[in-house]
Amino acid sequence: MRYRLYPPGRGGALEANVSVAPSQSQSKITTSSIQEKKLNRQQITCLTAYDYASARLVDEAGIDLILVGDSLAQVMLGYDNTLPVTMEEMLHHTRAVHRGVKRALIVADMPFSSYHIDCKEALRNAARFIKDAGAEAVKIEGGEKRSHMISKIVDAEIPVMGHIGLTPQSVHAMGGYKVQGKSLGAIEQLMRDAKALERAGVFSVVLEGIPREVAAMITEELKIPTIGIGAGPDCDGQILVFHDLLGLSFGPPAKFVRRYANLNSVITEALTAYKDDVESGGYPSDAESYHLPKDTAAGLEIVTSRKRAMKL
Ligand code: KIV
Repeated sequence: MRYRLYPPGRGGALEANVSVAPSQSQSKITTSSIQEKKLNRQQITCLTAYDYASARLVDEAGIDLILVGDSLAQVMLGYDNTLPVTMEEMLHHTRAVHRGVKRALIVADMPFSSYHIDCKEALRNAARFIKDAGAEAVKIEGGEKRSHMISKIVDAEIPVMGHIGLTPQSVHAMGGYKVQGKSLGAIEQLMRDAKALERAGVFSVVLEGIPREVAAMITEELKIPTIGIGAGPDCDGQILVFHDLLGLSFGPPAKFVRRYANLNSVITEALTAYKDDVESGGYPSDAESYHLPKDTAAGLEIVTSRKRAMKL
């Protein structure tokens, strides 16, 4: 008899890990398998997702890593930037994503001010994502100056993904969303940031909005994988925002965004067709309606015809 120590279908199923060699596409992605991909020179695929439906679609498409990004502030909640989103909102979305995912690694973005006050609060907040929401790692923006705090979180057995370059939570400090790492001094600082994060124990690092050449140098220099967004093709993997990739966002896309679909117009067409059908009486049809069983219909007919007769 075989004992299943954990419910089936989740990554921790001991039986699945030791008794058979699951096919690559079925096996649960972990921080170690993300790192192995760099060693094997396989590109790492990452995407954001923010709810059950988007997470299920992304997971079933075989994407390696799902980031519950704080970009949800903009694409899901309609804020101008990522700064207002709260811990509670991030936890709420992370739980929904967790319910939709079987294979991908789930990383939750730590929101602005959840790790800026002190190490203890940062650690407590990071642990909530793991313990209360089902995340398997957290992402934190910032380099050298965050590395001490990050090492404390890693020491508490919480995997951390770094994020340097154009870090959207620093929008006011950067004076806008500007490509970073364009001068020799800035390149040196980026390299110091990347190395400090690697020493602090992050399992991978997002490189956002930096010149391709700089991303290539950092990728070459680090043992951990780099995941690019607006950082060119030489990173170890790529990430995009779900809504950008699908053409579900409003306003002109950034230079690095490739739109693989235009769901805005698909959805708008469907919604206007529905409105037109309802207004013209074309929806619902008789085939889309429920009907009475035959004898109830016959009984009802007798009752209504008696009522009609009494009115005469
Ligand atoms: O919040 C986000 O979506 C991100 C990106 C790296 C995609 O941080």
